Amino acid sequence: MSPPHDFASDNHAGVHPAVLDAVAAANAGHVASYGADEWTARAADLFRRHFGEDARAYLVFNGSGANVACIDAVLRPHEAVICAETAHMNVDECGAPERIAGAKLLLVPTADGKLTPDDLGRWDSRRGDEHSAQARLVSITQSTELGTLYTAEEIAAIAERAHSMDMLLHVDGARLANAAASLDLPFADFTTDAGVDLLSFGGTKNGLMFGEAMVILRPELAPHAQFVRKQLLQLNSKMRFCAAQFEALLEGDLWLENARNANAMASRLEEGALECGVEIAYPVEANGVFAKLEPDAIERLTAASEAEHPFYVWDDAEGIVRWMCAWDTTPTDVDQFCALIASSVSSR
Ligand SMILES: Cc1ncc(COP(=O)(O)O)c(C=O)c1O
Repeated sequence: MSPPHDFASDNHAGVHPAVLDAVAAANAGHVASYGADEWTARAADLFRRHFGEDARAYLVFNGSGANVACIDAVLRPHEAVICAETAHMNVDECGAPERIAGAKLLLVPTADGKLTPDDLGRWDSRRGDEHSAQARLVSITQSTELGTLYTAEEIAAIAERAHSMDMLLHVDGARLANAAASLDLPFADFTTDAGVDLLSFGGTKNGLMFGEAMVILRPELAPHAQFVRKQLLQLNSKMRFCAAQFEALLEGDLWLENARNANAMASRLEEGALECGVEIAYPVEANGVFAKLEPDAIERLTAASEAEHPFYVWDDAEGIVRWMCAWDTTPTDVDQFCALIASSVSSR
């Protein structure tokens, strides 16, 4: 019997079998390295199909690498990035944007992980002031670190404001597939066509073994992106194995099926939790459920679930826990976990 699926992270999931098959199929003979191969060419075509003819995809090893490479590709040394305080690049990348891209992050506290166009004006009074880092890039996460979503219109409004202030818009799309599935829109509708300039595209949480992409939607902004990728140590020599995974994901609907499942399981989990009287902390709009529990309920649930369905406490002070669903989470996983929630919140 395979081990149960947990709710700690969508990265705890394994690799989709079709992705493994694609890697095995690519494992034939000697092939040119560093992306000069037919798999990488086909993956590049697929990114153009999904994001528009101008899109240039540079495959990288991980999401932090994609974010830092995107920042480094478009920022000059005195320029800064506006992002939500909860942004992965702020809290979970060990200061890599600051150390590697040399970029100051300008942080916006938010209620739900989302920026608004008005947040972009906070640093405007220091524009042109040589004592102040100059805001040049806005980075939003879609879907957000708190499981919420921007609509296409909200993204277009942020892009419009950013451009009117001579700034660019980046999307951290580690979970872009979950966003597309939830919005029921093609990727381009809420990125390229909404005015996004560049993005980090996530494959790992969507069923790959590894692999993300720096996707430049306006190539004139970053003509040197390929050099940035190499300098930041994100150029994979056996690129065909990364590209073959993306081909498996993006050629048909695998990306969508995987994301839809993860999102549907999060909805099921939210319903189950609500039935137990649990308070949901943020709107459940993608594949994560954040719930507010009493400290003793967190303790009981942690003890009851640690063997089979562990999860993370997201915010100790606020009593918020995070339950993530993945491409392979099953209704049985969710129902078993909901039974543990029920007993943990009711036993006083
Ligand atoms: C919003 C977001 N961005 C980026 C990443 C990528 O991180 P990593 O560098 O671990 O691949 C993650 C992973 O958890 C994430 O949640």
